Amino acid sequence: MKKILFVGAEAMPFAATGGLGDVMGSLPAALAKEGADVRVILPLYGQVKGEWRAKMKDEAIFNVDLAWRSLYCGIKSLKKDGVVYYFVDNEYYFKRDALYGSFDDGERFAYFSKAVLEALSHLDFYPDVLHAHDWQAALSVVYLNTLYRARAEYENIRSVFTIHNIEYQGQYNFGILGDVFGLGVEHYELMDFGGCINLMKAAIVSADIVSTVSPRYAEEICTPSFGRGLDGILRENRHKLCGILNGIDYKYYNPGRDPVIPVRYNWRTRELKCENKLALQSALGLPARRDVPMMAVITRLVAHKGLDIMTEILSKLVGERDVQLVVLGCGEERFEHYFTELARCFPDKVSVLLKYDRDLAKQIYAACDLFLMPSKSEPCGLSQMIASRYGAIPVVRETGGLYDSIKGYWEEGKRIHGNGFTFAGYSGAELYERVCAALTLWRNEEKRHRLIGKIMRTDFSWSAAARDYLAMYDNI
Ligand code: GLC
Repeated sequence: MKKILFVGAEAMPFAATGGLGDVMGSLPAALAKEGADVRVILPLYGQVKGEWRAKMKDEAIFNVDLAWRSLYCGIKSLKKDGVVYYFVDNEYYFKRDALYGSFDDGERFAYFSKAVLEALSHLDFYPDVLHAHDWQAALSVVYLNTLYRARAEYENIRSVFTIHNIEYQGQYNFGILGDVFGLGVEHYELMDFGGCINLMKAAIVSADIVSTVSPRYAEEICTPSFGRGLDGILRENRHKLCGILNGIDYKYYNPGRDPVIPVRYNWRTRELKCENKLALQSALGLPARRDVPMMAVITRLVAHKGLDIMTEILSKLVGERDVQLVVLGCGEERFEHYFTELARCFPDKVSVLLKYDRDLAKQIYAACDLFLMPSKSEPCGLSQMIASRYGAIPVVRETGGLYDSIKGYWEEGKRIHGNGFTFAGYSGAELYERVCAALTLWRNEEKRHRLIGKIMRTDFSWSAAARDYLAMYDNI
């Protein structure tokens, strides 16, 4: 049986701030279902709830050496859905107000990565593949090659590094190479990118395979417009780069059984979805009307999610049309300000909730008719899949995983093709035009019913991806 260790900074339902947490919390179970021995290791943040802590077992206590420091490390574990989750316990590093954003994030995740490698010998678990995710886990791949390879048990461990988002690379000043990361000057070249330490670059160079979360994004990041500076390094390592489209957790995201939505439904009973719209409209103080289409935006409010083209057109769109708009998410102040103003100008049409709230997100997915996701870049994107599962029509820009998962709607006689509305150019005008086309379709009851039925039946589960990952592990 293949032994895989997932290393990453978050996993649902223990601690998560975004898509990485979704993937770390659901792909392992899908791999386990296919017969792999999958374990996951993540930090034990202060945010991990008592109900989970109560289920944890103590596995080991030891010290981790990081440069001149000798640091406490406890490893706890619990089993869920056929997967063993290990938690790295160190309150000094992980009992903070937020998962990320501390001045010493570099040190925190260097400690985490070193603790992972140390833990293997204390757990007597040597995986066939160490599978690290995003910059926070990048050093685990680097340490494996630089500091641990000489030990017999570590000699044959292969490594995969998955890029969930190239926007965040883990860049630091060289002053801390020895003092924080505990690496000697002989590793300067490996760690260097443009005169700075770049953890993602070092992991790309070190790993046996580099993967990313959609085939299209794997191509895109090899080009200067998407590579965020790393496109050259990725082109050099193209032979080991692949893209596998994420899935979503079909148990957690299931409108037929979701405990947090007011009225449950599936593709056969999809007319019931409208009851969720009425409930949300009342809860948010919007006029409760079946016949007004509700558009939703659920995202971090940052530029690469397409916020600048949305803010370019939304006030015109909302002003001109009989629509409602619900926005959930927080982020850059300028965008928060824009939406607050929009809601103030159109109190009967717009409701804005500046926060991250997973249950509320599901209520919005269940309520809305159109889901807007015009990202400038999108490694995979999960929201368009969740929206589809909940019967909302996605309107997306053709980039990354959005391109791979949503195909534009068109009619051929009685037949309909596609599962959403898409556009290519990054412009407010194109977004505007596609939203209007989607609204027109929505007004045609018969067509709407058929398209939503098709959308809800599109398979975004993990089954296909899990098999692709296993094939990838076999090919190392
Ligand atoms: C990141 C990406 C998102 C992707 C997710 C999971 O959050 O921005 O596109 O779906 O990781 O891989």
